Amino acid sequence: MLKHLALDEGAYDLKMNVRQLAPDCIIDVDAAMYARERALKDEILAGDAHYYCQTLPGTEAMQWETIEILLPNMARFYPEHFTLTTNGDRWRWTNLLLGTETAFTLGDPATLPLSPLDWVGRQVQEDLCVMDGNDPGSPLVAGHLCFASGWCLDDKMGRSFLAIHAPVPLFAEKIGRPADLMMQRVKVGRPTARVNWTIHPSDRLNCAPVMKQQYAFEHDGITPENAGERYYLRSEWQTFVRYPRTNAVLFTIRTRVTPLAEALPDPDDARRLATLLRTMPPAMLAYKSLTRHAEMLLAYLDARTRARESVTM
Ligand code: HEM
Repeated sequence: MLKHLALDEGAYDLKMNVRQLAPDCIIDVDAAMYARERALKDEILAGDAHYYCQTLPGTEAMQWETIEILLPNMARFYPEHFTLTTNGDRWRWTNLLLGTETAFTLGDPATLPLSPLDWVGRQVQEDLCVMDGNDPGSPLVAGHLCFASGWCLDDKMGRSFLAIHAPVPLFAEKIGRPADLMMQRVKVGRPTARVNWTIHPSDRLNCAPVMKQQYAFEHDGITPENAGERYYLRSEWQTFVRYPRTNAVLFTIRTRVTPLAEALPDPDDARRLATLLRTMPPAMLAYKSLTRHAEMLLAYLDARTRARESVTM
């Protein structure tokens, strides 16, 4: 199975799935993909910077605190890729994966080549969302979002945690209140994490709504025989971190796309996924854009399960 992801056994159930992050490694670096995904972010942002990176006025301190939290954490967990030296507010960041060095003064925008969130967003493979923890609704106030799965900052900026999730079927009824409380209660120094998954007929990381028309026919030519290579499991490793100074909550989303055949090497995983798809409420299948794919996916997953059964008989 994929890193961080374990498919539930039994019927589909919308769950919070939140756990403590231990060790508290916030950022998930994949050295083999890092430079390529950074280049992709550069290309996406060069196309339309405002669509993919937005910050509300008054969020400068939260953006700087994102740098203050992430760089030491990355240098601690990936010393082979990053080093950080500090002298008071004067910081020097060496990114060995990119071969770059950045010296800047914390809090002084003139010393960075980009806005603080845009700069730090390009040091990680994650998308970064900053929620204002001083407002009980935990609204989204700053975002660096190149690899979103079907949503965009234009639709979500300034909106509360619950309003952001309004399009998600069953969210309000089943987990809205505990999830909202969880957001309010993330503690300083005790980050949490969860995983989300879906299936896409493409390995494209940027699935923003604005791309929809351009890629409307990605599923053409998929058959039960090639489904394992043409469908991708799209997993999101999400972390939640409270900032001590500004009280903001950082929400990180690390998206991985892996061909189904590779993501589900164990036929038991194929069986689990088939059961989840079979028991998923139609509204959730539709929300995940899986309605038209369900039959094809089940044909593939059932064949994988049957192949295992015929070997073990
Ligand atoms: C306890 C924390 C959270 C839980 C349990 C949660 C759960 C979910 C679930 C189940 C979905 C549906 C995705 C799918 O099944 O394919 C979703 C979508 C989404 N989540 Fe969260 N989420 C959490 C935190 C956040 C935070 C902090 C943000 C901040 C930006 C966020 C933004 C979104 C967005 C934008 C969507 C897509 C909504 C749309 O389609 O318009 N989530 N979330």
